[in-house]
Amino acid sequence: MTTPDPADRVLARASLAEGDPTGWFEQLYTAAEKGDAALPWHRGKPNAELAEWAAGHPGESRRALVVGSALGDDAELLAAAGWAVTAFDVAPTAVEGARKRFPESTVDYVVADLLKPPGEWHHAFDLVVEIMNIQAMPRDFRPAALTSLAGFLAPGGTAFVCEVAEENFDMATWQSPPWPFRREEIESVAQDGVRLLSLDTIRDGARYWATFTR
Ligand SMILES: C[S@@+](CC[C@H](N)C(=O)[O-])C[C@H]1O[C@@H](n2cnc3c(N)ncnc32)[C@H](O)[C@@H]1O
Repeated sequence: MTTPDPADRVLARASLAEGDPTGWFEQLYTAAEKGDAALPWHRGKPNAELAEWAAGHPGESRRALVVGSALGDDAELLAAAGWAVTAFDVAPTAVEGARKRFPESTVDYVVADLLKPPGEWHHAFDLVVEIMNIQAMPRDFRPAALTSLAGFLAPGGTAFVCEVAEENFDMATWQSPPWPFRREEIESVAQDGVRLLSLDTIRDGARYWATFTR
């Protein structure tokens, strides 16, 4: 007997067959809200590596942007550390879910698409956090997403990029989503004045953790 595909994979396949790389996120959040599906990425707490960094880097009202903010855990972590946080997700139900979870929040939760970001975000953020979102879109969309991402970073700012590391998995048996990253793809955030500061693997080699500045 074969195991049925999880809801995220089924919805992603249908969405992608219609040429829409992101429509399935809203469908999955809506289904999860009704209790009909699970959000495979939702842990109910911030990313551990970001939390460790944030503990030693108070924001002092500098501007941070959280990409693919889901239900808000990373955004709230940074707000609590003193950052003035804008957090966006392409799925309106995720944005609404974050606002409901954190009704007293100072975070500006926004519905926006990394592939078509607001122009006023260009070079506007002292901290940019991209954790496991770009890998959730097929590779064709990667160059545009990485260009948007690099564009958010203000001079002197810091950007973190974390994605699944292709080199440590067997791609012959891999099932997407997500679509893992090659080392050189992570490095290509260094464009248009952005520089790579470090690129490490974390979690026993499962993920890349890269740091950039401008
Ligand atoms: C795999 S989840 C990761 C969520 C969170 N960053 C984390 O680390 O748990 C990907 C998130 O990115 C959002 N997303 C996907 N494509 C996006 C896009 N083009 N623009 C903005 N958000 C996007 C999805 O709705 C989803 O909340």
